[in-house]
Amino acid sequence: MALAIRLHDQYDLHDDNELRQDVLAGFAASPKHTPPKFFYDRRGSELFEQICLQPEYYPTRTEEAILRRAAAEIAEIAGPGASLVELGSGASRKVRLLLEAMRPASYLGIDISRDFLLSSTHRLGADYPWLEVHAACADFTRPMSLPADAIGERPLAFFPGSSIGNFDPQDARAFLENLHALLPAGGGLLIGVDLVKDTRTLEAAYNDRAGVTAAFNLNLLWRIRDELDSDIRPAHFSHRAFYNEAQSRIEMHLASPRAQTVRIERQQFHFAPGETLHTENSYKYTVEGFQHLAGTAGFAPVHVWLDDRELFSVHYLRKA
Ligand code: AVJ
Repeated sequence: MALAIRLHDQYDLHDDNELRQDVLAGFAASPKHTPPKFFYDRRGSELFEQICLQPEYYPTRTEEAILRRAAAEIAEIAGPGASLVELGSGASRKVRLLLEAMRPASYLGIDISRDFLLSSTHRLGADYPWLEVHAACADFTRPMSLPADAIGERPLAFFPGSSIGNFDPQDARAFLENLHALLPAGGGLLIGVDLVKDTRTLEAAYNDRAGVTAAFNLNLLWRIRDELDSDIRPAHFSHRAFYNEAQSRIEMHLASPRAQTVRIERQQFHFAPGETLHTENSYKYTVEGFQHLAGTAGFAPVHVWLDDRELFSVHYLRKA
């Protein structure tokens, strides 16, 4: 069967202006920082898939176990004729755990990494010939519109992986409000949220022994070198990840052990010894804390599933 993936392009990755502007602004700021979405070029998306396989990185396998166990219940809550809209679909792997139970009318994958999105949705379409597959290349951290024919009449938004954790709480709320506006009344949201837990487990997950998370973090500097005009040397930085308990978040940084000056385009940026570039926050929530946040954006809790060790949560919420 010839497979037609319907692509709705909203984000032009070949335009590196956004990378340039955000990187220059972030390096000029104090403390220096960059948005996590720039991790996900093709190489970064592949490294992220490798992170998910590391023994220390519990979120992926825990969430998958929850979804596998809850699939029939999720299908029942969603009801017949629902369609799935996945945000940050990446490899489109987790949605496979829902497809057989739900038999959705259609699937729309949304991702910022265009060729990764296309190959993933093609594979999905090949493996599930009965499924109508759409792909939208878009940056969901910004307000977006979605084509009505791709959303379907009874959409269930699927946002797995605790990607919501990348947003500061105010931005998470704004994101949920945007999503709320995109959904029709009664529309559902199935969202994976990593839970607050002991520091050791959290820090191990972001400091895997194989060094994949370090490579993922450093890949950002390779991108700056390859896509912008820069003399930055990835080998002159080191991966740092720790739990900030006061803010309930893992912080990832790239630390400059020695003083150095790096050039990006026509600007010079100085790093003092030990100074860092803050590359990511990954917020952790309690079940109640997340339900409260979602409530402020107009979502009412329907059900929440946890694993036995209470490492991770999957929430079903409904547009109130
Ligand atoms: C995709 C944002 C959920 O925060 O755990 C994994 C990204 N960064 N290891 C996370 C990530 C380092 C991941 N999220």
